[in-house]
Amino acid sequence: MRAVVYEGPRQISVKDVPDARIERPTDVLVQITSTNICGSDLHMYEGRTDFEPGRWFGHENLGQVIEVGDGVDKVRVGEYVVLPFNIACGHCKNCERGLTNYCLTAQPEPSMAGAAYGFADMGPWAGGQAELLRVPWGDFNCLRLGEDAQERQADYVMLSDIFPTGYHATEMAAVEPGDQTVIYGAGPVGLMAALSATIRGASKVMVVDRHPDRLRLAESIGAIPIDDSTVDPVQAVLDQTMGLGADNGCECVGYQAHDPSGDEQPNLTMNRLVASVRFTGRIGTVGVFVPQDPGASDDLARQGRIAFDFGTFWFKGQHVGSGQAPVKRYNRRLRDLIAAGKTEPSFIVSHELPLDRAPEAYEHFDKREDGWTKVVLHPVGS
Ligand SMILES: NC(=O)c1ccc[n+]([C@@H]2O[C@H](COP(=O)([O-])OP(=O)(O)OC[C@H]3O[C@@H](n4cnc5c(N)ncnc54)[C@H](O)[C@@H]3O)[C@@H](O)[C@H]2O)c1
Ligand SMILES: [Zn+2]
Ligand SMILES: [Zn+2]
Repeated sequence: MRAVVYEGPRQISVKDVPDARIERPTDVLVQITSTNICGSDLHMYEGRTDFEPGRWFGHENLGQVIEVGDGVDKVRVGEYVVLPFNIACGHCKNCERGLTNYCLTAQPEPSMAGAAYGFADMGPWAGGQAELLRVPWGDFNCLRLGEDAQERQADYVMLSDIFPTGYHATEMAAVEPGDQTVIYGAGPVGLMAALSATIRGASKVMVVDRHPDRLRLAESIGAIPIDDSTVDPVQAVLDQTMGLGADNGCECVGYQAHDPSGDEQPNLTMNRLVASVRFTGRIGTVGVFVPQDPGASDDLARQGRIAFDFGTFWFKGQHVGSGQAPVKRYNRRLRDLIAAGKTEPSFIVSHELPLDRAPEAYEHFDKREDGWTKVVLHPVGS
């Protein structure tokens, strides 16, 4: 089968790799029809993780079941399914508590928890930017889709990661009806957090970034765009909230946060959130931060540390939630909102391309070029 193989920093190729296949009775084999490129892939693509050359990417996957193992009860051949990026067993201590983002079985390293397809430090699992994907514990991990699945793939594929992840940010931030919410980052994840805040009834959603195309998308769903290359975003949020600050906030950028000129400052968004959110407000951090970052520009960051304004954070009595999103906690409900025509997360999709065009798509998306907001690859079908 063909797959998007990592060769080294900013070097990928689409080439033949061994076919994915059923290896255990509980496996499901999926022919991938839609698979997204994610901001998380870019950390690996840029060589800012220890993702091993020769492995292939792809954790935002949707496709059609072509084979099931003998131990699979629910999922049937021919059905369209969307897969949470978290691979989870369903029966470990964490999965039992709904923490499928920290499964203990799917992660072979005993000191770690959590697994994903085609991802650094998240187990040995192959990615889905390929024609076929092996889904372990298939009954637990597959979310089945209805009859409109094939034609509405661009909406449903967002259930694999970024829509539930954006929603999780607003859950950790405890966004409630009437709230005023600020979101740092208008990438795909930030835009999904903005959509989720709206679904939860926020009265005002403010989105901070500096890319005009991404800010326009935020505006298209009723959010207030704040361009931090032209204004001080903290002051802009205070101005919008009678000087009190937002009720809550979401971090959707991560450790490669930078100023508008491109200089990395991994503490920039967290400290701006502390300053933009009012006393006692909550912050949901879904942007990825890492325990070590050898490619960082300063010593602190190389050790996975940031200079966090803990004094102000403590003084304001704020709370912060963090980590990978437990996609399974939300994907069924969000699927039903899509199916009912209540929401269309595909508004962020800028490009739908065949798998062979992955190298150019990575290059453009990595540069956050104007108009490249979200790429869906189609290994099979179009
Ligand atoms: N927790 C999870 O489960 C989970 C899941 C998916 C993605 N992520 C992470 O979420 C983050 C965002 O992903 P994405 O796909 O949207 O990526 P992206 O890189 O396309 O988007 C990030 C956006 O942040 C903006 N940005 C950079 N510095 C900023 C700053 N100082 N202030 C405001 N905006 C700034 C960039 O201009 C860009 O538009 C990444 O770190 C990704 O790894 C986490
Ligand atoms: Zn992702
Ligand atoms: Zn588990």
